[in-house]
Amino acid sequence: MSRAKGFISFEGIEGSGKSTHSKLLAGYLRGKGHEVLETAEPGGTRIGIKIRKLLLEPANHMDPLAELLLYYSDRAQHVREVIYPAILRNTIVITDRFTDSTVAYQGYARGIDLSIIHTLNEIVVPDMKPFLTIMLDMDVEAGLARNREARKSDRFEQETIDFHNRVRQGFQQIASEEPERIKVVDASRGIEAVTRDIIKIVEEAWR
Ligand code: TMP
Repeated sequence: MSRAKGFISFEGIEGSGKSTHSKLLAGYLRGKGHEVLETAEPGGTRIGIKIRKLLLEPANHMDPLAELLLYYSDRAQHVREVIYPAILRNTIVITDRFTDSTVAYQGYARGIDLSIIHTLNEIVVPDMKPFLTIMLDMDVEAGLARNREARKSDRFEQETIDFHNRVRQGFQQIASEEPERIKVVDASRGIEAVTRDIIKIVEEAWR
């Protein structure tokens, strides 16, 4: 398994600040002279944007397996069209969500057998894991409230608190299994404190 040093993912529950902190970290690294590509799942490609619409449309009552495979369609396109080529040109890639989201949402929260997800990982992303994963952790209801303020309401935001607590516990479990790669950051604090921690983690990981 190759782990390119410049491949970083952000993970966490709804409203935990992944996109804000991806942008802030990208800006910081560019300021240090690095080439940085910011991307996200689902929807990091033109095709992915269409898949994202299908996945998040509140009116779509989707079978869990159909949902899982759509996330992997999005990912197959994303890694081949965007992530691999950027890593090959030595560009730092920061993705807002990656495979850990699937394990947490479709595995721990929806209840799909984790071995199915691990098999799909071997097929779709056989030779790559993020070098570093920043996991933003905070209370589920506080995160959902942040999103409501931002008027975000998609198919997942309409799930129960229980569902989102299973996602959070899933993320915590994944982090406890891979402490080298995954660093948990308390995202309930203000943006500046969280940013400081993230920069310290990245600098230490690259030392
Ligand atoms: P976003 O709101 O962070 O853009 O993500 C869209 C939703 O997709 C979010 O509710 C989490 C969900 N998701 C999964 O359920 N499985 C996955 O593999 C990914 C990448 C996202």
